[in-house]
Amino acid sequence: MNVPGGPRQLLSVNPATGHDLGRVAVTSAEEAADRVAVSAAAFRRWREVPAPRRGLLVRAIADALRRDKARLAALLGAEVGKIRSEAEGEIQEMIDMADYAVGLSRQLHGLTLPSERPGHRLLEQWHPLGPVLVVTAFNFPAAVWAWNAFIAAVCGDTVVWKPSSKAPLTAQAVSALVEEVVDARVAEVDGRGVFATVYSDEPATLDGLVGDGRLPLVSFTGSSATGRHVAVAVARRLGRSLLECSGNNGVIVDETADLELAAQALFFGAMGTAGQRCTSTRRAFVHRAVLPALEARLAAACQAAPVGDPADPATLVGPLIDEAARQRFLAAVAAREAAGETRLTGGRALPGPGHFVTPALFRAEAMAARHRDEVFGPLLTLFPYDDFAAAIASHNDVPQGLSGALFTRDLGRAERFLSAAGADTGLANVNTGTSGAEIGAAFGGEKDTGGGREAGSDSWKAYMRRQTNVINDGAALPLAQGVRFFLPGG
Ligand code: UN1
Repeated sequence: MNVPGGPRQLLSVNPATGHDLGRVAVTSAEEAADRVAVSAAAFRRWREVPAPRRGLLVRAIADALRRDKARLAALLGAEVGKIRSEAEGEIQEMIDMADYAVGLSRQLHGLTLPSERPGHRLLEQWHPLGPVLVVTAFNFPAAVWAWNAFIAAVCGDTVVWKPSSKAPLTAQAVSALVEEVVDARVAEVDGRGVFATVYSDEPATLDGLVGDGRLPLVSFTGSSATGRHVAVAVARRLGRSLLECSGNNGVIVDETADLELAAQALFFGAMGTAGQRCTSTRRAFVHRAVLPALEARLAAACQAAPVGDPADPATLVGPLIDEAARQRFLAAVAAREAAGETRLTGGRALPGPGHFVTPALFRAEAMAARHRDEVFGPLLTLFPYDDFAAAIASHNDVPQGLSGALFTRDLGRAERFLSAAGADTGLANVNTGTSGAEIGAAFGGEKDTGGGREAGSDSWKAYMRRQTNVINDGAALPLAQGVRFFLPGG
């Protein structure tokens, strides 16, 4: 999008109506590099601000998010098509993350360890790392930034954010709120330059940032294909990357399961957020004895699901993000039909404006190559199984490894699913679905999902540099491992 004589602009389009919501000027590659320079300069000051004081700034941001929750949720919902409760949930996730980070700002603890040498002490401390690049996707256009930015900020890092070019207005609104708080609090805690944003859809700008040696950590959320490209570029300069890439998540429902509970979790997991979460459920392995009942329950739910205006409180399934996404979804549906899978319901485009589709439910006899690619849309395939061990193997038989779940009343199977030989995913649940994780635990996945961990638990360690210290309080210099070496000539 171009304005004569002005910078290129990113156009934000409401995916439910096709109407323009607004425009944001594209940050040029040179301006992006300048923002990194400002961020790097701010880091040199920020790293020396005591962590609990850094927490005060995050606390003030949380207050502003609480105040503006409804406004931000409405904008986010309009820009990416999230239904109201999910859009509000996303802002709540930011608030939860901020509160968590404020507490964490007094808990960035190291260890003391016994030294083998007399009069010596070993310890580990955690220092700020540097300016962090955070690249986020359209489907969580605000919360994923918060997971990274609030933790990074209390850890003493500064943050350069490259939001999705499909959700620039949400990023702009969040950035403006943060800037307002930073300015208002500057006497109390000087957070100028701690948060910066780069708006761009240009691969060269992303490449420039990813290759920038001033950014010791790149936290990337998006497809495995782009994640692989980012990881290689960051590794080339021996930087660190934290990857949250594609999911393709499975659920096992055994013959002892509470089917109503399983149906609820499968329906939310597959069709919630119009199926556009990394944690969305795409594959369900259902014991043959209970498949007909579960299939009927889910088909009825899909047919009854209100699809439409995400701002209408009755809606459960909003639009896909854009027409290209809808075409990819329809192609995945067509491939399943062509392969002879049973389409139980849905999988059709709705006429009229907006990128709407009906929730698609399929039954297939066994996993095939097409089930190994991530599909971003409201689609669930049910597979019958007879043997629990084979169901676990099928569950794991995809390149991705983000989230998995088992519905059962059998304690042994629950333990088996969570064991070393069970689900190979970063998140594995029993009697709750694959999506909708809380922030208190670490979030992330294995294999092509990329191995990164964000949000709670000890994920903060990724945003700091660990320093091992040895302190000698004696007059002698004993060497480790009994090595003998003397200062000659004395
Ligand atoms: C994502 O889809 O990128 O667990 C993240 C969930 C959310 C986060 C999803 N809390 O579904």
